Amino acid sequence: MGRALERAPFLFVQLIQRFVLLQLNEAGVNSFHQKLQFMDASKSRRQFLRNTTLAAITATALPGIANARKPQAQQDCNKTTLDYYGQGPFYTAGAPEIVNNLLASENETGTRLILSGVVRTLDCTQQIPNTVIDAWHANDAGAYDTQGFNMRGITSSNAQGFYLFETILPGKYLNGSSYRPRHIHFKITPPGFSMITTQLYFEGDTDIPGDAAASLTSGTYDATERIIPITLNGDNKYEGTWDIIVDGAGITGIQDAHLNNGMIYSVAPNPFSDKLTIHYGVFKPSKVSICVFNLSGSLEATLDEQFLAPQKYFATWQPDSGLSKGIYFITLKVNDMQTHYLKAVKI
Ligand SMILES: [Fe+2]
Repeated sequence: MGRALERAPFLFVQLIQRFVLLQLNEAGVNSFHQKLQFMDASKSRRQFLRNTTLAAITATALPGIANARKPQAQQDCNKTTLDYYGQGPFYTAGAPEIVNNLLASENETGTRLILSGVVRTLDCTQQIPNTVIDAWHANDAGAYDTQGFNMRGITSSNAQGFYLFETILPGKYLNGSSYRPRHIHFKITPPGFSMITTQLYFEGDTDIPGDAAASLTSGTYDATERIIPITLNGDNKYEGTWDIIVDGAGITGIQDAHLNNGMIYSVAPNPFSDKLTIHYGVFKPSKVSICVFNLSGSLEATLDEQFLAPQKYFATWQPDSGLSKGIYFITLKVNDMQTHYLKAVKI
């Protein structure tokens, strides 16, 4: 069975699609979307290119969109720092592997949080698989498990450099006379690089300004890039993204690294059941491709490389009905650099 991922300029083709869809439904065809041959590692990219249509829209068709994000000077990912407090007093070595991506069991009291990201090199050009990520944090009441390994676990970035786990929002605990903000501790060890010990915080936490570590905005322990936004998803769980960028001497984290070439604006609907529409922008003439990976890092679908003008586009992915439920990473590659990705949940 094939899995379709096709690309089109935004809006204009969408209108045409609606029209043609009506015609095809009249003819008894289930979907307008052409069934492109699924491109797995055993199939040739050349074959896929022949099956892929691509067109550009004029700037006047979508006024302002082409300039939605202006190209900026090429830059490396921002280098950030370790946490001022280091590992803190509650680290326990030897935590078990995280099973089924659950750092906190489904029965754990608290507000659910899905955290994910990608491990990259400092110049953002490469993603790093097999990075060992040792995470631990307090429970909903602000207490650490000092006897066992509850909410302590180890996972790894997958073959595409992605990692993901679900847990709860850590509770707050007193540090002297004030509460520490909610935080997750990490020891991160990319293969070939030294271990990095740091902490992750969450935007909007009112205890950040009073925290000696989380409030630092410059210098060696600058926490700015380790305070991430979290948003509620359709499952009433919070989601956050934290990319880990390594240079061999330290970890940097930045969510919107290297978006001067292009980005994925949205994937919708999300969660999805049968079809996903991916809206993305290209900010300067570039070779562009889109790939869909599962949590294990296996390629599920690809829209092969094309040379695109700076515009906004969309692609549709219509996977087989047998596609496993779960989380998928939709990635945008521009000029041989994986520039951006978003998660999509198949239900
Ligand atoms: Fe802590």
